[in-house]
Amino acid sequence: MAPVRRIGVLTGGGDCPGLNAVIRAVVKTAVGHYGWEVLGIEDGFEGLIKEDRVRPLSTESVRGILPLGGTILGTTNRGNPFAYRVRKDGEVAVVDLSGRVVERVRELGLDALVVIGGDGSLSIANDFWKLGLPVVGIPKTIDNDLSATDVTFGYDTAVTTATEAIDKLHTTAESHHRVMVIEVMGRQAGWIALEAGMAGGADIILIPELPFRVESVVRSIQRRDAIGRRFSIVVVAEGAAPAGGQPLTLGDPNAPARLGGIGTWLANELSRRVEHEVRSLVLGHLQRGGSPTPQDRNLGTRFGVEAVRLVERGGFGRMVALHGTEIVDVSLDEAVGVLKRVPPDGSLVRTARCLGIGLGDDFE
Ligand code: F6P
Repeated sequence: MAPVRRIGVLTGGGDCPGLNAVIRAVVKTAVGHYGWEVLGIEDGFEGLIKEDRVRPLSTESVRGILPLGGTILGTTNRGNPFAYRVRKDGEVAVVDLSGRVVERVRELGLDALVVIGGDGSLSIANDFWKLGLPVVGIPKTIDNDLSATDVTFGYDTAVTTATEAIDKLHTTAESHHRVMVIEVMGRQAGWIALEAGMAGGADIILIPELPFRVESVVRSIQRRDAIGRRFSIVVVAEGAAPAGGQPLTLGDPNAPARLGGIGTWLANELSRRVEHEVRSLVLGHLQRGGSPTPQDRNLGTRFGVEAVRLVERGGFGRMVALHGTEIVDVSLDEAVGVLKRVPPDGSLVRTARCLGIGLGDDFE
């Protein structure tokens, strides 16, 4: 393998706390440790399609970014070069610009491209690897739904933010004897809902992996009433759905589905069936914002360092991952397209049941 001289780094898909920790670690290791050049590519793969979206990153340019949320490189989830949407004569057309990206990577003289992304961006990275680009992946998502790694950075921050919100809801729920429904993110996985719900002492937690019945939620609230607990906190994952139903989505039906709306729907259903006033809240993008927790800073940093070491070994077409306490690498082919969901019979669910948390699935 020819010696590495210059690498590119990009962040793709939704942002996530800890991205800047990764970028910093990539730059410090590649520039500071190996003496390579690093080019930062702005706005994900779009930065390799459009002009003037590439800038050199020095150790100086990543100073102070460790505690910052978001990504200094910008990101977008609209820029899949294999199916790029362009406006032509007022119409939207989908075109394949992957050849342009391959050309651009060669033009820039990149010996490797480090892609920091979730399942979507890593799948695109894998397709470029198959076209011959030297790609290395770093997994990110607040949803923690990537099967090839024990955990992703960003998840701990999201759980922390959601837990703080649940803590705050307790005082107002208790004062007003209300049922508060809080909808959290996570797509088709219930990790954020279950972990934040448990940490925040929620009374009922509804996750996509366990279809629920409204009657079961009502019974949990009534059981609390019967022991004098005159308020309840319900955490519902955005991808949760009643048994036999589908997850609710928002926005343009022709655009990729955005989950959301189940919190408001459930609050309406409950308010017709319980004695309490019911209020709902969508935590939304607060879960993606803000400074990463120490755990996410360190996991992102470890991923960044190990990805550069992987480039140095020529480990292309692979992705770094956390297995136990070690950072390993796995092939992108194995890593993408397999969702990691909460095991319905696993220890987290069992713990919740033993604590008496209602999961909406006791179908009497
Ligand atoms: O994958 C991260 C995530 O925040 C999901 O939890 C959520 O469903 C989605 O992204 C929201 O996407 P957007 O920022 O495009 O609304």
